[in-house]
Order: sequence, then structure tokens, then C-alpha cells
Amino acid sequence: MVDVLRLGTHQLLAMRVPTHAAVGATVELAAGAIGERVAGVVNAVLRKVAQRDMEGWLDELSGRARGLDLLALRSHHPVWIARAFEEVLGDETEAALEADNASPRTTLVVRPGLYERAELVAAGAEPTPYSPYGAVWDGNPTELAAVRDGRVGVQDEGSQLVALALSRAEAPLGPWLDLCAGPGGKAALLVGLAASSRVSVLAAERLPHRARLVASALRAFSPDQRWVIAADGLRPAWRESSFARVLADVPCTGLGALRRRPEARWRRLERDLDDLVPLQLALLRTAVASAVPGGVVAYVTCSPHAAETEEVVAAVLADGDVEVVDAPQLLPEVPNAARGPYVQLWPHRHGTDAMFCAILRRKPSGDAR
Ligand SMILES: C[S@@+](CC[C@H](N)C(=O)[O-])C[C@H]1O[C@@H](n2cnc3c(N)ncnc32)[C@H](O)[C@@H]1O
Repeated sequence: MVDVLRLGTHQLLAMRVPTHAAVGATVELAAGAIGERVAGVVNAVLRKVAQRDMEGWLDELSGRARGLDLLALRSHHPVWIARAFEEVLGDETEAALEADNASPRTTLVVRPGLYERAELVAAGAEPTPYSPYGAVWDGNPTELAAVRDGRVGVQDEGSQLVALALSRAEAPLGPWLDLCAGPGGKAALLVGLAASSRVSVLAAERLPHRARLVASALRAFSPDQRWVIAADGLRPAWRESSFARVLADVPCTGLGALRRRPEARWRRLERDLDDLVPLQLALLRTAVASAVPGGVVAYVTCSPHAAETEEVVAAVLADGDVEVVDAPQLLPEVPNAARGPYVQLWPHRHGTDAMFCAILRRKPSGDAR
């Protein structure tokens, strides 16, 4: 019933639905989905909600809230998420939280070697400011034949930039690995980028149905350029020290993409980190072991939370097998993207999802502590 009430409240306070229609439709929904017995209470609660507008309710609920509590309430975020942003951003927190409430425009990516961005621009798309492969498209992407046949995909500019950073780091020549590839957006860009060095990419994904999505994302490339397997990154199906470049785009809280999934902020819980962080650590360690000495690993999250970004990297650095590569230097065209030696993108600064990217180089054997 709480979900039904939330839907009704959203219509009353955040949409231009007339009160009688919002209340009527929600009561009908409650009666159908839950039972006639709740119709009266749903009607009463929503009539009460309708007595004020959004500002009126925010004033009422703010009460004695101050500082971060007030900011979280007014920007429609749980306090733990506002706190995680504040730890990284300080004074910019309000702007970042507000940016989560604006829906992003659709960004396309051309798969290098298969399509030119100029063709998208000629069709009416707007080039992205930083990624040379991106273009903003206000129409339905599937109207474009190149999207339908896999030469162009839909991908946030931030995801494009972290894949680009990995491709630009100095590394030996050799095959590349995408350890957590589903649904395949970054893998598709990596395959295109790897092709210019005539090397192939192995894309691994634990869940078979997501591995099939990866295969579909890569379908426009020739079979000798890409290999897709359903495999658990924690039990590698390949030999150690095999890859020149490895992407570990690990499962995370997704706090960096809240503008895309507005409801996720209420579904995610801080305690989800208890399971995610050990998995992220284990996956990053596998990624490092999979790289050849001198090879590079990109550790990527779609979250700025310190526990799943800097702290995971710090734990792996303490193992002594890798050194940090200055990631912001690999993306000189992106201003204000440095979080120490790591890249941190933000919706309010860059118009991208809040992607984090650390680039690590595996030390030559014998150099490890
Ligand atoms: C953040 S998503 C990757 C997004 C992808 N790189 C892209 O750009 O489309 C993380 C993926 O890791 C997968 N995953 C989770 N645990 C894994 C494991 N142990 N081994 C390999 N993949 C795993 C999840 O199923 C999910 O598809």
C-alpha cells in the first residue's frame, strides 16, 4: 500500500494531474491491486496530502532539520547518500544532488571502425563535449539503422570516457579483458578501440543472460575481434598474466546514475556495501592477476562512494602488486575530473553519470613486495 500511496502522492505533488483524477485513479488502483478494504484509507491519506503543494510539505517536514539532513530532504535523497556525496564534494554537494533530479538526454556512441560520429551529427545529433565517439540524440535511438544493427549504441558519455582512459594508458601490446562485461556497452567501445592495435577483447560476464546481451552489443564486429564468455570473474576461465589491458567495471551501488533510476535511491541501502565491497575487492584482485606485468587495469564504478572507490583501490595497492597511473592525465580534455590520481566524473560538472576510474599498472614480476 505504501507504493500505491507514493504513486498517488507523486501525481499530486510533482505532476500536473488534477487532484480528483490523482485521488480517483489511485483509489481505484488500490482497490484492484490490494482490495476494496483499503480504498477508504487511501482516499483519506491522499486528500490530506492534497491540502498542500510540494513546497508546503517540504516546509512542514523540514521542522528542525539542519545542514545535511535538510539538504537531503529538500533534494529528495536519503541522508546516507547525501553524506557519501558530501565526503567527496564538500560545498558542491547541493549541486550534485539537484543534478540527480534532472533526467539525462540520450547519448549515443559510435563503435570505432564501424561508424563515424560525423554521420550522426549530419543526421541531427549533437557532439558530446569530451568523448570523440559520443553524440546526444533527442529522438528514439531505434529510428537509426546504425543503432539497430549495432554499429552505434546508447551509452552515457562518462562510460565512454573511462573506456577511453584505459585504451590510452601506456601498456604492452596484447589482448584485452573486460571482466564484468554485461550488458556490453564498454566492451563494444573497447573492441572498436582495440581493433586499431589489431588485438582482440575477451568479454566475460557471470550471468548467462547478460553474457547474451554482451554478444548482441558486439554483433557488428567481426568474430575474430571479440570473444564473449559467461564466466565468474572470481574463478577465471583464463590463465593468469594474460592480458595487456583489463577493465574491472564492478557491480556497485549505482549512486552515480541516480538521475537515470530515480527510485534506486530509495531501494539501495547503505548495508548493501557490506556485500558489494568484498566482491569489488576480489574482482579487482582477479583483474590485477589477469594482467601481464606492465599491463594496466581500469577499476571503474558508477558510484562516487568512498567505500567502493578509493578504499577498494587502497586495499589492493597495499597488496604491493600494482602502482597508480595518473588517470586524469589520460583525459586531458575533461576539466575538473581529478579526485587525487583517479578520475571522478559528475552530472553537475560534466553532464555525465558520476563514474569513478582508477588506472593501475601491474608491477613487473619480482617488483612486488
Ligand atoms: C557495472 S555492470 C558492468 C557494465 C558493463 N561494463 C557495461 O559497460 O555495459 C557489472 C556486471 O558485473 C557482473 N558480475 C557480477 N559479479 C560478477 C562476477 N563474479 N564475475 C563476472 N561478472 C560479474 C554483473 O552481472 C553485471 O553485469
